Amino acid sequence: MLSLDNSYNEADLKDFDRKARQLSKLDIITYCVEPKFDGGSISLIYENDLLARGATRGNGVAGDDVTINIKQIRTLPLSARFSNYGLQQVEIRGEVLMNKNSFKKYNDALVEKGLAPLANPRNAAAGTLRIKDPAEVRRRSLEAFVYHISDYTLLPGKEVPEELTTHAGSLKLLWDLGFRSPVKEMRVFDGIDAVIQYCLEFEEKRDDLPYEIDGMVIKVNNFDLQDRLGMTSHHPAGPWHLSLKQGRVPANYSM
Ligand code: IVH
Repeated sequence: MLSLDNSYNEADLKDFDRKARQLSKLDIITYCVEPKFDGGSISLIYENDLLARGATRGNGVAGDDVTINIKQIRTLPLSARFSNYGLQQVEIRGEVLMNKNSFKKYNDALVEKGLAPLANPRNAAAGTLRIKDPAEVRRRSLEAFVYHISDYTLLPGKEVPEELTTHAGSLKLLWDLGFRSPVKEMRVFDGIDAVIQYCLEFEEKRDDLPYEIDGMVIKVNNFDLQDRLGMTSHHPAGPWHLSLKQGRVPANYSM
């Protein structure tokens, strides 16, 4: 995973691609490109098709259990038929956003009350997740994009579904289950040149988007290849280890 924002430029991407081709001995790498959403990062756990827990990324080491607030986000399904794909427990990463419209309304209301407006929608979204009033969370109309299945267990006798062999497939699976994943925004390309081209095109549309983005994220599409290249593991963990617990999230929770 690379994100093309301030931290990486075109030359870095070409360099990454060259190294990836060398390492994998492949002539061409297939990439999936999608926006890097600029909000508050969340992790969700679904157990037996039900949303069981949600946590924020916090400071990157420990996050907060925000299950009740997460359940106020209308674009996140409280239940989803993961069992149709043979999945029992699923951990999903995503980003909670306040769209530009809702942000403006929220700030206007603050100003009307004589309070200081918030600097940006990211702070508004991340801050809202932490408040202790679920009804107020609901009023603020947060939205969530989900972009990654970080872990899962299979139901007895089931095999890894075809959809979970690629990143694009997992986004499609999430979309089909009623999540808002970036299927409309993402593109799959063979080779890095088309990736760079799409990033530049998307950048031009940035101001027209209803939400803020912070660059683009470029992912090697095939999970086996990601593993071979030393990226994150996407295979079901031996004994399932929950990275979300009630209360504080353990210190090994990282993204
Ligand atoms: S991929 C296991 N994709 O950027 C996590 N991250 O990742 C894989 N972010 O704070 C991360 N949009 O919350 C990924 N489409 C996207 C993203 C995205 C926003 C955030 C993420 C994290 C940071 C670095």
